[in-house]
Amino acid sequence: MSRKYTELTFTPAVKEAQEHYGARSSASKVESWDIEDQKMSEIESSFIAGRDNFYMATVNEEGWPYLQHRGGPPGFLKVIDCQTLGFADYRGNRQYISAGNLRHDDRTALFFMDYAHRRRLKMMVRTESFDAADRPDLEGLKDEDYAARVERYVLFHIAAFDWNCPQHITPRFTQAEWNAMT
Ligand SMILES: Cc1cc2nc3c(=O)[nH]c(=O)nc-3n(C[C@H](O)[C@H](O)[C@H](O)COP(=O)(O)O)c2cc1C
Repeated sequence: MSRKYTELTFTPAVKEAQEHYGARSSASKVESWDIEDQKMSEIESSFIAGRDNFYMATVNEEGWPYLQHRGGPPGFLKVIDCQTLGFADYRGNRQYISAGNLRHDDRTALFFMDYAHRRRLKMMVRTESFDAADRPDLEGLKDEDYAARVERYVLFHIAAFDWNCPQHITPRFTQAEWNAMT
């Protein structure tokens, strides 16, 4: 956990809850950790490069969070550099809730699960979204062999991240993971 992560998440109400549950003193120690850097290491980069889906939460004008799933071939969310991720967003249900929310507020939470290895990573990012027609230079974010219509290119600029412990994760395996094991 980095100091930046606690700056973004340990709000006054969160600190009140920590106080209420007797966790404030241990939590405050984390705040003093000297890790300010939000650059991914090889550990986060390779973890993300192996994912075939993630969850993203945006927030609307009323303050309601909105959670959606994004999926594609493994590595469809590309690591551009140690502070930037990007993917090609496909045409979907035509409600444009995530896209609309991002027009109002670029703050986004990402959640990555690796059920097979019981690992999970959470990330807070600032998001940029571009109509695909306007940014041919981002075509490299597309997976050519994947049958889906690209509507937007999305860039995530990392603000903070933290790993969760493996507690309460039931191992689940994709067909490919299962085949590799048996
Ligand atoms: C034809 C079609 C219908 C879909 N219907 C739904 C749906 O009813 N509910 C849903 O959550 N996702 C649905 N999806 C998947 C979403 O469209 C997709 O995840 C989309 O990118 C969501 O956009 P959003 O993040 O703005 O909600 C559908 C996709 C397609 C192609």
